[in-house]
Amino acid sequence: MTVTDSSNSSRNPAPGGGADRLDKINPFRVMTVMQRAAELEAQGRKVIHMEVGEPDFTTAAPLVAAAKAALDAGHTGYTPAPGIPQLRQKLAEHYQQNYGVSVDSARILVTPGASAGLMLLAHLLVGPGDGILLGDPAYPCVRNFIHLVQGRPLLIPVGPAENFQPTVAQLETGCDARTTGLWLASPANPTGAILDRGRLQQSCDWANSRGLHVLVDEIYHGLHYVDDMPTVLEVDDSSFVVNSFSKYFGMTGWRLGWIVVPEAFVEKANILAQNLYISAPSMAQYAALAAFEPGSREIFEQRREAFRQRGDYLRRELAAMGFGLAEAVQGAFYLYADISRFSNDAEQFCQQMLEKEAVAITPGTDFGEHRARQYVRFAFTTSMENLEEGVARLRQALGQT
Ligand SMILES: Cc1ncc(COP(=O)(O)O)c(C=O)c1O
Repeated sequence: MTVTDSSNSSRNPAPGGGADRLDKINPFRVMTVMQRAAELEAQGRKVIHMEVGEPDFTTAAPLVAAAKAALDAGHTGYTPAPGIPQLRQKLAEHYQQNYGVSVDSARILVTPGASAGLMLLAHLLVGPGDGILLGDPAYPCVRNFIHLVQGRPLLIPVGPAENFQPTVAQLETGCDARTTGLWLASPANPTGAILDRGRLQQSCDWANSRGLHVLVDEIYHGLHYVDDMPTVLEVDDSSFVVNSFSKYFGMTGWRLGWIVVPEAFVEKANILAQNLYISAPSMAQYAALAAFEPGSREIFEQRREAFRQRGDYLRRELAAMGFGLAEAVQGAFYLYADISRFSNDAEQFCQQMLEKEAVAITPGTDFGEHRARQYVRFAFTTSMENLEEGVARLRQALGQT
């Protein structure tokens, strides 16, 4: 196994100097796909969008109504930096009811999306030169945040053999003398892969024995299709959690997430929140209060079921075509597909699918380096009809009609 210390790679040197940590931050290839897709649409072609990492459903009506009421009531100002107390309390209850863990609401900070939560935690936990263990592939912003605070993302190559999640043996190999943390995501982007309870426990035990902090990005919780989906707090109360209202709760544009930190870090996290963004959007926080009402939950669960059906359908069809895929969709709304039967260049493959058949998908190169040209990500964030159309077009493009 070769661990990549990605702080050494500088693929985009900034012109004219600038902060050299910016040199390590790559643009997303998917932006090129989206731009070209928009051009094709402007020419009148119907593009099947399977590149987008956000639910196609709009925000559920009870949340929108709550936001309107909040505006009418004048809740338009800053809120306390860690969020309104009512929402933090609801989140504490959420942990109790859904996972059976007791979390003091003082440990929960509401953030402008998981993005700001990750950024805050990067500042809180990572110093210059600190090594942070991450899976490769992974959500790319995470490694970029680590670069921004001059840490060193230590990328552990993961594939189907380890269900796209790092094993303890791999972590042991990847760890160096200046490693201070392990950052995981479950369910993960771009693979949807879940760390089951046993492996989550092993990872935490290993990290604790090494004195490393553990952070788990749980943004796709709720959008899981397995029976047991533990939060890391069930197995290790000293871990850091990132979560969001973007995905299961369908609030991407409202910019609202949260983090859970151990008690010893609450004060510092609050200071960072005050300085980095003052508060999360007020209107969004009031809207999110309605997310915990039974009627809203019903809507989210119906949507989860729709995602499950779409994922099962797309997995079956893509596997029949010859894409390499996991046995089942575990979580999120992504399929990470091995294209080696068709191509050894994911970027070119994505470009061809777009040009030939107007099907937009994301190359693996957006998510890391390990076998990245061998994979593409399909997002089933579009209707069943569109997925069927997409499947038919892919068959056409691959000469399988
Ligand atoms: C794994 C993961 N973490 C964090 C984010 C950021 O989400 P947001 O800032 O919308 O909460 C995303 C977005 O796609 C993601 O996939």
